[in-house]
Amino acid sequence: MAKEIKRILVTGAVGQIGSELTMALRKRYGSDNVVATGRKTAPSKELKESGPFYFIDVSKRETLEEVVKKHKIDTIVHMAAILSAVGEKNPMMAWDVNMNGTIVVLECAREHNMTQVLVPSSIAAFGPGTPLENTPNDTVLKPTTMYGVTKVAGELLCDYYVRRYGLDVRGLRYPGIISSETPPGGGTTDYAVAIYYEAVRQKKYTCFVREDTRLPMMYMPDCLKATMDLMAAPFETLKHHSDFNVGSMSFSAGELAAEIKKHVPEFKVAYEPDFRQAIADSWPRSLDDTCARQEWGWKPAWDLAAMTKDMLEALRKRHTAGKL
Ligand code: SER
Repeated sequence: MAKEIKRILVTGAVGQIGSELTMALRKRYGSDNVVATGRKTAPSKELKESGPFYFIDVSKRETLEEVVKKHKIDTIVHMAAILSAVGEKNPMMAWDVNMNGTIVVLECAREHNMTQVLVPSSIAAFGPGTPLENTPNDTVLKPTTMYGVTKVAGELLCDYYVRRYGLDVRGLRYPGIISSETPPGGGTTDYAVAIYYEAVRQKKYTCFVREDTRLPMMYMPDCLKATMDLMAAPFETLKHHSDFNVGSMSFSAGELAAEIKKHVPEFKVAYEPDFRQAIADSWPRSLDDTCARQEWGWKPAWDLAAMTKDMLEALRKRHTAGKL
C-alpha cells in the first residue's frame, strides 16, 4: 500500500511560491504538520505564526537533518532555488544552492525512508534547440543558463533516485508564475508580475523584454493546484516523475500590457530589453502538457483576462491600505 504524507518540510518557504504553498499545505495537512524553512529572508507574520519555521542552509546536510529528525518529516517539498537572472550574475552560487541543495534533500529522503519528495523544475530546462511552440514533454534539453543546467541535472537526479532506490520523487516544470502576495526574486519572467505592481503603483512600467516576447505563464492558484494534485496522484499511474510540462496560458508582454490597460486606461509601458531578453528568447513560447493531463489529470482554470482582474483587485486593495 502507498505510504501516506503526514509531515512535510518545505524549503524556500519564504519565496514567491513557497510562501503560498506552505499556507495551502498547512490547510490541507494541518498547521503543525507542515514545517516551513528559509535561508535568510525573514518569514511573514502569517507564515511564522501559523506553524513551525526554521532557518536552514539546504546545501548543508546537518541543518536540514536536524529539523527532519525533530519533526519526524516524511515528505520534503524542495522549493529553494536560485532563479535564472540571478544565476547568470552568479553561476557558482546557482550551482551550489541548486545542485547541492537537491542532492542533500534526496539523500536525506533516501536515508530516512521518506514517503515523497517534490522537486520542481522549470521551463528553463529547455533551450534554443528545443521546438519553441507547443514544446513536447520529452524533447531536447540543452539550456543555455546555469539555472537551466541545474534544472535538467536536477530532473535527471530525481529520476535516478526513483529508478535506483525506489524513492517517490516528483516534479513539474513551472512556467512563469504570477502572484500578488510575495514578489518573485531574480527570474526572467518577473516582468509579468512587476507590471501589475507598477500598473497599480505608478501607472507606468519599463519592461525588460521586448513587446513581442511570448512565454508560458501560470497564475498562483493554478500553480498551487498543480503542485498539490501531483503530490496526491497515485505513484503507480505516473510514467514520468520529475519533469512534467504544465501549461496554462501564453501571452506576449504587449498582450499582457493591453489586458491591464483595459482596467487602467492611462497605463504606459516602455520596452528596454536587457540581458534577460536572450534568456527569454531561449525558452518555449507554449507547452504541450498532455503527459500531465493524462497521468494525473492536470487541468488549469485561469486565463489572462480572469487573472488580470483578480491580480489588480488584490493589489489595489493593498495599495489603498498603504501596504504596497
Ligand atoms: N520564473 C523562472 C525564471 O524566470 C523560471 O522558472 O527564472
